[in-house]
Amino acid sequence: MEQEKFLDYVQAENKVEPKDVMPEDYRKLLVRQISQHAHSEIVGMLPEANWISRAPSLRRKMALLAKIQDEAGHGLYLYAASETLNNGENGADRDSTYNDMLSGRAKYSSIFNYPTLSWADIGAIGWLVDGAAIMNQVMLMGNSYGPYSRAMVRICKEESFHQRQGYEILMTLCKGTKEQKEMAQEALNRFWWPALMMFGPNDSDSPNSQKSMNYKVKRESNDDLRQRFIDVTVSQAEFLGLKVPDENLKWNEERQHYDFGDLPWDEFMEVLKGNGPCNKKRLETKKKAQRENLWVKEAAIAFAEKQIKLTKT
Ligand code: ACO
Repeated sequence: MEQEKFLDYVQAENKVEPKDVMPEDYRKLLVRQISQHAHSEIVGMLPEANWISRAPSLRRKMALLAKIQDEAGHGLYLYAASETLNNGENGADRDSTYNDMLSGRAKYSSIFNYPTLSWADIGAIGWLVDGAAIMNQVMLMGNSYGPYSRAMVRICKEESFHQRQGYEILMTLCKGTKEQKEMAQEALNRFWWPALMMFGPNDSDSPNSQKSMNYKVKRESNDDLRQRFIDVTVSQAEFLGLKVPDENLKWNEERQHYDFGDLPWDEFMEVLKGNGPCNKKRLETKKKAQRENLWVKEAAIAFAEKQIKLTKT
């Protein structure tokens, strides 16, 4: 299909499916974004896994385990969606994309390079990080690539549960002792700005946005989604009795939106370059897991090959 016809096709809200002819830059854009998204789900399990053994009750532990398991499932759907774009030469197979992440060539969300220092951070991650992810992913349910858009429908349902379990952790802490409420406030202080940076650079500094919008992969801009997230989250913080750590946060009657302060973009750039508080630790953990669990993969492949031979005889 010619470029122009393809653009008309996606702009008329038609879905593109794996075997359809598609422009190479569309395929590339999707492999980049879907695989980065998958890496985020997989690396995103680590900060929360840090608290499984220290969850304050059996109920909390079960909910946290279920949530982390969901994230693994999201990663797997997304790797599968990315593999549907593999044309044999573009490195979209699972091993290549995963190894790109391990070597630092491919990105994953900046947010997962921050540590989880207290139990309240698990609440803040559910509320803010999963909340920001939903804001972005509801928009992605309508993206033009069929397998990615369908994966998003299920992922969004599960992310809603994650967001609520996080908010409920913070509600419990905020109704607790003075120390528990302080712990919740500190978690909000540490996660507020990194959560806002999840939406990516300002639109004026976003090199991929234009193409992504034209191809109906991205359907709303980084800044619009960030603004919507702030607008809905401030009242949730107020309900908890917590203060959003931004002196410039103020309702703007004319715009019908909150005004807010400048994001720490230097910090964002450092995290993207691999210099965030936990970048090195996250990649080392994943590399170690790959090394130590290789035998499981080899055994599964050997078993599958044996089954194929048996069915042929
Ligand atoms: N963390 C790490 N990298 C980021 C972030 C971030 N928060 N925001 C932007 N970037 C990267 C982009 O990947 C891009 O890098 P690349 O060109 O080397 O691939 C670069 O910064 C410039 O950004 P944009 O031009 O704005 O990139 P893009 O159009 O891809 O928009 C966005 C970024 C919004 C994150 C988009 O990729 C997206 O919607 N991805 C899918 C959702 C996702 O990955 N969410 C992750 C968290 S979800 C979770 O809970 C696991």
